[in-house]
Amino acid sequence: MSYAAITGWGACMPPAVLSNDDLSTFLDTSDEWITTRTGMKERRVSHVSAIEMSTVASQRALACAGLDPADVDLVIYGGTSNDELCPNSSSGVQLALGATNAAAMDLNTACTSFCYGLATATAMIRTGMIRNAVVIGVELISRYMDWSNRNVAVLFGDGAAAVVLQATEAEEGVVGSVLGCDVEARETLRVRGFGCAYAGQGITFGDTLWDFDGQVIFKRAVRAMSEASTRVLAERGVKADDVGLVVPHQANLRIIESVAQHAGIPMEKVIVTVQKYGNMSAATVPVALVEALETGRVQPGSWVLMPAFGGGLTYCSLLVKWGTRVTPLGKSDAALPPCEKTALEMVNVIRAGQDPHGRSLKGLMAPTLVEARLAK
Ligand code: UT7
Repeated sequence: MSYAAITGWGACMPPAVLSNDDLSTFLDTSDEWITTRTGMKERRVSHVSAIEMSTVASQRALACAGLDPADVDLVIYGGTSNDELCPNSSSGVQLALGATNAAAMDLNTACTSFCYGLATATAMIRTGMIRNAVVIGVELISRYMDWSNRNVAVLFGDGAAAVVLQATEAEEGVVGSVLGCDVEARETLRVRGFGCAYAGQGITFGDTLWDFDGQVIFKRAVRAMSEASTRVLAERGVKADDVGLVVPHQANLRIIESVAQHAGIPMEKVIVTVQKYGNMSAATVPVALVEALETGRVQPGSWVLMPAFGGGLTYCSLLVKWGTRVTPLGKSDAALPPCEKTALEMVNVIRAGQDPHGRSLKGLMAPTLVEARLAK
């Protein structure tokens, strides 16, 4: 059975920066609260679609791998933000790339979508179904954020990154994975107004209400990522000391520190981007991985651990054995068009389109898990 090496990587960060002080202009919050509770200082707001961000990230990853788009077998679009649900978003990226011979699959497990996509594509390569894949982690959360809710509006950001996987006989790429879902807590993170349950109710897309039990999610995130990491390391017989780099989901600096402490790995071996990009859900792990590679923090032949956690509540930890190459084979000149507006101006446009008074969604809740059980 072959392995699935990570041979290409590329990120696409939208340029407009939304600072904590920008958020304080319309929310009862402060730079001090956000920084001390989350470690976040700023995040990005995209002026382009999720497919456009994904395309630029994929073009950069393909150039890095030296792979022709026509040779791509599979595009996986990992994320919760879709420009449209039909046709799917992966086919939009496929078309823009000219990856005419590829299959195209969207995969949504919320913040873990990239890691689940990486595990899925790896399994498909290892079993011989395909020879290579582009796996994307992307989010455009600014378009459906409830900007009136300070519990969530300060936490999230937009961004995208992609990797290229290619079959190899060398033992590298994802060589261990633990995937799971802490389903009893699925209603602790819920975006109301976002799906078929709300059809025909006169709801404008983007006008959402978020259920978000931050403290419960925090505790379960630490537990699930820590346990999954311990298991995946034990399954491969890798000691914490042998891990070269941790590339964790970036939801909160305190969560990251806690997971590292549980795993017995010092913070010097953990890549942190939460201060500048916030929580980009599915995009956090690949964006952090690209940053680690571009700043020389991934050593050839090293063990890289990727724990993640998100809505569902899905969780995972992937163990990657890095190959020999940590530098790109080529460079793409793909870039986003210039952004004419500030992040705050873009957010204010979205806010103006949201229903500020009626919160009409309140009467339109899809049944919760508990209600569904009681109805039986
Ligand atoms: O990627 C998906 C997974 N998501 C996560 O993993 C997020 C996990 N949760 C967290 O990161 C943290 O729970 C939060 C950062 C969301 C919240 O931090 P916390 O330390 O758990 O704060 P809290 O929810 O206990 O809130 C403390 C206080 C409350 O006020 P009272 O009740 O003490 O008067 C909140 O109303 O802080 C208040 N608060 C805020 N104040 C200023 C909540 N949000 C804000 C805000 N600005 N943005």
